Amino acid sequence: MKFANQVAVVTGGGSGIGLATARLLATEGATVIVADIRREAAEMAVADIAASGGRAHACVGDIADRDLVQEGARDIVARFGKIDLLVNNAGLPVPGSPETYKELGRSLDVNVCGAFHWSQAAAVESMIPNRSGAIVMVSSLAGLVALPGDIGYVIAKHGLLGMTKALAIEWAEYGIRVNCVAPGTTSSLMVQEAMRDYPTFMAERIGRIPIGRIAEPEDQAKAILFLASDDAAYITGVTLPVDGGQMALHSGFTKGR
Ligand SMILES: NC(=O)c1ccc[n+]([C@@H]2O[C@H](COP(=O)([O-])OP(=O)(O)OC[C@H]3O[C@@H](n4cnc5c(N)ncnc54)[C@H](O)[C@@H]3O)[C@@H](O)[C@H]2O)c1
Repeated sequence: MKFANQVAVVTGGGSGIGLATARLLATEGATVIVADIRREAAEMAVADIAASGGRAHACVGDIADRDLVQEGARDIVARFGKIDLLVNNAGLPVPGSPETYKELGRSLDVNVCGAFHWSQAAAVESMIPNRSGAIVMVSSLAGLVALPGDIGYVIAKHGLLGMTKALAIEWAEYGIRVNCVAPGTTSSLMVQEAMRDYPTFMAERIGRIPIGRIAEPEDQAKAILFLASDDAAYITGVTLPVDGGQMALHSGFTKGR
């Protein structure tokens, strides 16, 4: 088991990519802290992991609230002794066009500040004193290129790439690696909602995926676990697209051309 005796925090672990990551980490022996704003989702994830023989614990709260995150990290260290891994997965689109956009603060608070608050808390409370740790950010293709109609998300997800590089060089001396995945379209709640709200846009996007399907949350979880594991011991500060080849395909072309 690759993560035996390790303690892992997964933000947004109550559904989608976060839930798949929490489950896989538990299967690989980690004690998993499911940090989510939705109590019911966090508790269901914990029950689900326990039913499969894993160890998990819920940490409920808004990652945008720095004090709450610090309290959460201290509580985890008090209960479980340390935080070895942090997956900064919680995030959400806050759609809108740039001419009228008023939601930039909320988008940055959750998608960027939330990831920073957890990184800071995990590093200060455990990883720096222990001279060891791995952090994986969950950005998006919207962190590598612009997507239309989601200005706040594009700005925020690009921000995570900068944070990954900055924390990687700041904390390398403490044995902390910081990396990032940039998922392409992945079958989760957010995408099911987008399929319903923007069917034409989504069908066109799926038609441009060279591998020919959208990702499953488990596809993302496996990439996250790789970057969190010792197999990636010499990798820090990078962003890995997990996108079925979308970044490799010129965006002006479709698969058939
Ligand atoms: N699904 C995709 O196609 C896709 C593509 C690229 C990137 N992503 C990114 O992957 C991550 C996970 O997305 P998903 O598709 O699994 O979404 P999801 O909505 O299924 O899960 C997100 C989880 O985060 C939690 N959350 C939201 N705001 C929070 C907050 N303020 N504090 C604590 N928890 C909060 C939600 O309750 C939910 O459980 C997000 O960062 C998203 O931007 C997803």
